[in-house]
Amino acid sequence: RTIHILNGPNLNLLGKRQPEIYGRDTLDDVAAACAAIAQEAGLESVLRQSNWEGQIIDWIHEARETAAGIIINPAALTHTSVAVFDALMTFEGPVIEVHISQVHKREAFRHHSYVSARADAVLAGFGVHGYALAMRHMALLLAGK
Ligand code: DQA
Repeated sequence: RTIHILNGPNLNLLGKRQPEIYGRDTLDDVAAACAAIAQEAGLESVLRQSNWEGQIIDWIHEARETAAGIIINPAALTHTSVAVFDALMTFEGPVIEVHISQVHKREAFRHHSYVSARADAVLAGFGVHGYALAMRHMALLLAGK
């Protein structure tokens, strides 16, 4: 079974973009860490990133057929996108929302998430380690624990 790890706008620059907020690890580092945890749990993981809202939505639709669970960092789309929320509502498996930074400690416009109303769990402020924690929790959820 495969877990899709979807990432929204500007996260291709992870490691270079505002490292004081998001750290120096890259999305490739995240992909490698998650793949290792998935493998231990007998799962596979696929990490994708797009700066395009429609691409994220298409990937969520694809996940309906091919993914057992979704880990998503919608980035700025978190705070703007009813369309990403609607797409996630069509997905039947577990959804975990991840934010690298502690969004509630930041600007007020980052405090509301459209996605949280669908997410089974939400992580914020764990740095890139949040993805690894999300993957471990996903493995437990899928094992029925
Ligand atoms: C983010 C937080 C969002 O507010 C921001 O727009 C991002 C990244 C995070 O991972 O901390 O791009 O989702």
